[in-house]
Amino acid sequence: MKIIGVSASARENKSTRFLLEQCLNESRSTAETLGKSIELELINLAPLKINGCVACGKCKKGVLCSQEDDFQPLIAKLADPEVVGIVMATPVYMGCMSAQAKAFIDRTVLFRRNGFMFKNKLGGVIAVGGSRNGGQELTIQAVHAGMMIHDMIIVGDGDHFGGAAWGSHPDGYESDVTGIATARNLGRRMGEVACLMHG
Ligand SMILES: Cc1cc2nc3c(=O)[nH]c(=O)nc-3n(C[C@H](O)[C@H](O)[C@H](O)COP(=O)(O)O)c2cc1C
Repeated sequence: MKIIGVSASARENKSTRFLLEQCLNESRSTAETLGKSIELELINLAPLKINGCVACGKCKKGVLCSQEDDFQPLIAKLADPEVVGIVMATPVYMGCMSAQAKAFIDRTVLFRRNGFMFKNKLGGVIAVGGSRNGGQELTIQAVHAGMMIHDMIIVGDGDHFGGAAWGSHPDGYESDVTGIATARNLGRRMGEVACLMHG
């Protein structure tokens, strides 16, 4: 079993990645508690150049993409049948997901067009805003929409929608105890449901 985490921030090592790591580590330790093991992979979009989909239709002919950019090497990683879940972590930009997150999600259309390859994979979302209530819930639900288009199974944090954090906490994002708890709880639920489905 493997869970892939995607950090869709423009900044490589800031709050979005931190929250994603909190989540993924919790998935792994939850699985261990249940006597199982989950492999993790974190894909950081910050240094990558991923264009938006150009709707060329090449992916209607196979698991292919016409654009020779940094999405190409991700195709094999995401197509790995060992992957049971994907956690998308995005900053809130102008009330919704980052352009990096949207470009990534749009490019995954090739998996849908080739037999719904993400069907029944688990999907969880983390949104980090500069404000406490800067659009995290709307952002999470916008990413959920893409996951539902893939026929993925949406996992929340056991209470609400997923990880919702405050990146500009006055004492630093590592001090946003409430937000960190939602990310960890999402990771715990991802681990629990993965073990239930694939145990
Ligand atoms: C272009 C842009 C738009 C933003 N819009 C919002 C917003 O609408 N709501 C909000 O709460 N924070 C907003 N922010 C702040 C980021 O969400 C916040 O700083 C977040 O922690 C950034 O993630 P990072 O630390 O991984 O870079 C915006 C930041 C940028 C750069």
